[in-house]
Amino acid sequence: MSTIGPEAVDLSPEELRDRVAVELERTRRRSAELTDAVDDEELVKQHSSLMSPLVWDLAHIGSQEEQWLVRDVGGRRALRPDIDDLYDAFQHSRADRPELPLLGPDESRQYVATVRDKVYDVLGRAPLEGRRLVEHAFAFGMIVQHEQQHDETMLATHQLRRGSPVLHAPDPPGAEAGGERRGEVLVPGGPFTMGTSAEPWALDNERPAHRVHVDDFLIDSHPVTNADFFRFIDAGGYRQPCWWSEQGWQYLAHAELSAPLFWQRSGDVWLRRRFGRLEPVPPDEPVVHVSFHEAQAYANWAGKRLPSEAEWEKAARFDPSTGRSQRYPWGEDPPEERHANLGQRHLRPAPVGTYSAGRAPSGAWQLIGDVWEWTASDFAPYPGFEAFPYREYSEVFFGPSYKVLRGGSFGTDPAACRATFRNWDFPVRRQIFAGFRCARTPAAAELD
Ligand SMILES: [Fe+2]
Repeated sequence: MSTIGPEAVDLSPEELRDRVAVELERTRRRSAELTDAVDDEELVKQHSSLMSPLVWDLAHIGSQEEQWLVRDVGGRRALRPDIDDLYDAFQHSRADRPELPLLGPDESRQYVATVRDKVYDVLGRAPLEGRRLVEHAFAFGMIVQHEQQHDETMLATHQLRRGSPVLHAPDPPGAEAGGERRGEVLVPGGPFTMGTSAEPWALDNERPAHRVHVDDFLIDSHPVTNADFFRFIDAGGYRQPCWWSEQGWQYLAHAELSAPLFWQRSGDVWLRRRFGRLEPVPPDEPVVHVSFHEAQAYANWAGKRLPSEAEWEKAARFDPSTGRSQRYPWGEDPPEERHANLGQRHLRPAPVGTYSAGRAPSGAWQLIGDVWEWTASDFAPYPGFEAFPYREYSEVFFGPSYKVLRGGSFGTDPAACRATFRNWDFPVRRQIFAGFRCARTPAAAELD
């Protein structure tokens, strides 16, 4: 799997163009698989008020690509200025999108293909220097990552869809011998470099690199599993307000929750619906489809807390032997299949104790891939933040309404899974592929 990283600064413009073309093509194949898997009726239908119809995502991908790459970078004439508004995510909420006069399935496919032809032409001719937007092909990288993010959103729509399975993928590898030995790892206090100024395709909210002091902390070596979560439920975790924040308890009462999304009880066992299949909840997989509030309540019940975003990133990137922050938990190399469960190769998280090749210097497993991990932190700008290329990318979302998630899921493309990548969502959201791990501050006696 290829991604564009700091080595891109040494590529010739031709090599860079070739790499971009590979990313564009690879990503489009996934978008096509997700939209060709269902018939036209299902493409235009809204499967949940939380999501757009799949056909909206598809044409929206094309519309963003047209606006940034064809019009802005390429300086070409607008193809469909008349539909800009329909596919502007800020103009229409997801719930309202089915009522819009959207392009139909055939029209949408044709539109994205026409845009893509023009983009290849622009890619072949546009200078990749002289303007920050095009340096190291940033605009192309932004659009590739945008499409990849919609591929994950579309995967979440598939998970919400009712009906027989239409997506198929092999199961992830099993846990490795000894990999299931779980505990906590200690990350000693001190400064580390958070964020990045070196990644050419990093988005504005990941920048700039800056030093952050983090006190000693312990973090779970593995994500919290379904078996762990069974115990929380059995202990009455969903019925005892003491484990929940006030906001979390109100949400719980209002939404009447008693288990992660897609779970149902059958006699003594928990079953889950996964992309149209009903199956027993596997005890050794990371729990997924829990909200921030559920994650926080579990952590309180376990006598722990959620890690801050800085703690998560330090556990994932900081190598005490060099004093440097790595690009990934395993080092600088782009993700390979042996490192992490990414890119929709598998349609479920891998059991805990898989991917020893992807362990961080801290000793923690599976920080990248499998499930997004909720952190305790609000989405906020780093010191020295500059909105680029537009305020609506990140800046308008900063504030206490959104919590940060880290690490990517089995549905996330490897190209967007740098250990600096930041995702954010409302603390009540459960349809995303999110789980968590816990952290805590060690008692003085534990540090001796
Ligand atoms: Fe979008």
